[in-house]
Amino acid sequence: MKRQLVLIYDFGGQTAKLIARRVREQHVYCEIVPFDVDFNRVKAKKPDAIIFSGGPNSIYDKNAPRISKEVFELGVPILGICYGMQIITDAYDGEVQRSQKREYGLAKLEKIEESALFEGVSDDTSLWMSHGDSLITMPKGFKEIAKTENTPVAAFVNKDESIYGVQFHPEVEHTVKGREIISNFLFKVAKLSADWQLDSFIDEQVNKIRNLVGDKKVVCGLSGGVDSSVAATIVHKAIGDQLTCIFVNHGLLRKDEAEQVIETFDRQMGMKLVYADERNRFMTKLAGITDPETKRKIIGEEFIRVFEEEANKLGKVDFLVQGTIYPDVIESGTNTAALIKSHHNVGGLPEDLEFSLIEPLRELFKDEVRLVGSELGIPDEIIKRQPFPGPGLAIRIIGDITEEKVALLQKADAIFREEIDIAGLYDDIWQAFAVLPGVRSVGVMGDERTYSDLIALRAVASTDAMTADWARIPFDVLAKVSSRIVNEVDGVNRVVYDITNKPPATIEWE
Ligand code: XMP
Repeated sequence: MKRQLVLIYDFGGQTAKLIARRVREQHVYCEIVPFDVDFNRVKAKKPDAIIFSGGPNSIYDKNAPRISKEVFELGVPILGICYGMQIITDAYDGEVQRSQKREYGLAKLEKIEESALFEGVSDDTSLWMSHGDSLITMPKGFKEIAKTENTPVAAFVNKDESIYGVQFHPEVEHTVKGREIISNFLFKVAKLSADWQLDSFIDEQVNKIRNLVGDKKVVCGLSGGVDSSVAATIVHKAIGDQLTCIFVNHGLLRKDEAEQVIETFDRQMGMKLVYADERNRFMTKLAGITDPETKRKIIGEEFIRVFEEEANKLGKVDFLVQGTIYPDVIESGTNTAALIKSHHNVGGLPEDLEFSLIEPLRELFKDEVRLVGSELGIPDEIIKRQPFPGPGLAIRIIGDITEEKVALLQKADAIFREEIDIAGLYDDIWQAFAVLPGVRSVGVMGDERTYSDLIALRAVASTDAMTADWARIPFDVLAKVSSRIVNEVDGVNRVVYDITNKPPATIEWE
């Protein structure tokens, strides 16, 4: 049976991804396409419903995103959100006007008449508005179904064609009944069923991988991160010992990380794991190197060499598992060149490796990857891991890298993360880590004057690492971390906390 599909046209901004999350939450599969996607691709996908996202433009801007009118001839239910509503208005000969002022903030719903879209949603519920244009002439064949104090047409419908438009944003949390409205569109308007279930996703992938691989060999670069761990585990479930995982320890991992990866995947999950302990090799290559990009390059290249050497020892291998996830493959609607980001979540494997790729997570968002991971029995310590950069601690040690500096940073970093965990803050923080800036300062310990290292702590809240807020960790937690670090880590006499957002600062220090 074909899985149902909702296509989301991306008109820019962040809203398409949020809409996609809301649709997936309702157990309906969806994909995001750029607004200028070739219509034949859309037709070939046979969508069961379409959603037009919001976007930053005005429909009358010179370069405003437009779509192929054939979309409306597909005859599938459509929901246009904000800018998407204007796309519908324009297509059906309605008119939009730039308002005097941008309406931005909360408004109250006033229903004009009952409709499937607002079933179970009562008047006065809060809606989130963010638009500069308003509708002045109704599109042909449409009727207004809701308004707000400042927006005479907050929602409209063309019942014959099952096309709805809403001026507000049902996908954001501020729209209190947003989930119900999206659910109404999916189930009451488009009459879809909730057929996107992660356990059936696992079964589907397992069968697909088994058929694809046959009796051939598969290799996977395991980093201990969430994506590669879950990808490897699905493949292992499908083909068992035909999969070999290669885990490279470049010596720049967090404290106890290597042991934890080996314990989990080799001992607990029973995977065939090659452990390449190449700490000395990387340390030698990195000796005296201070430039951050050069560090990255050396680690990336050396990583590939180690990986290739280990893979060659396995004899003929046909497939490579990669933990690519959906946000890595979404084509951005804001970029007309339809850029597809290629992402390698092990230190960057070369394009010319002679393997076919297996990417079992290509369709999933990060939180879905975590759910699949739990379903597969991967322990929480791995599933809930914060993102960790491929070059690891190398880009958190400013200046050259030595074994002593790595050991010192690992200790401080472990204390910080442990205290965050004890304080129950772990789930609210995107990344929390320690940095060794290579600065020394004067201190006193007992009667002694010290001249020792400074540790900087960095913790941020974020949803996608594109922007980040420094985390407002309670002072008493910071106090405890600080006193533990100066007491327990030899060579550190001062601790500071980084209170800079991204932008202007990046999350990492290098
Ligand atoms: P920045 O520092 O650019 O980081 O704000 C954004 C996110 O990317 C991670 N990061 C990296 N990940 N290789 C990686 O695999 C790298 O060279 C690298 N540099 C930064 C960073 O940890 C954050 O999650």
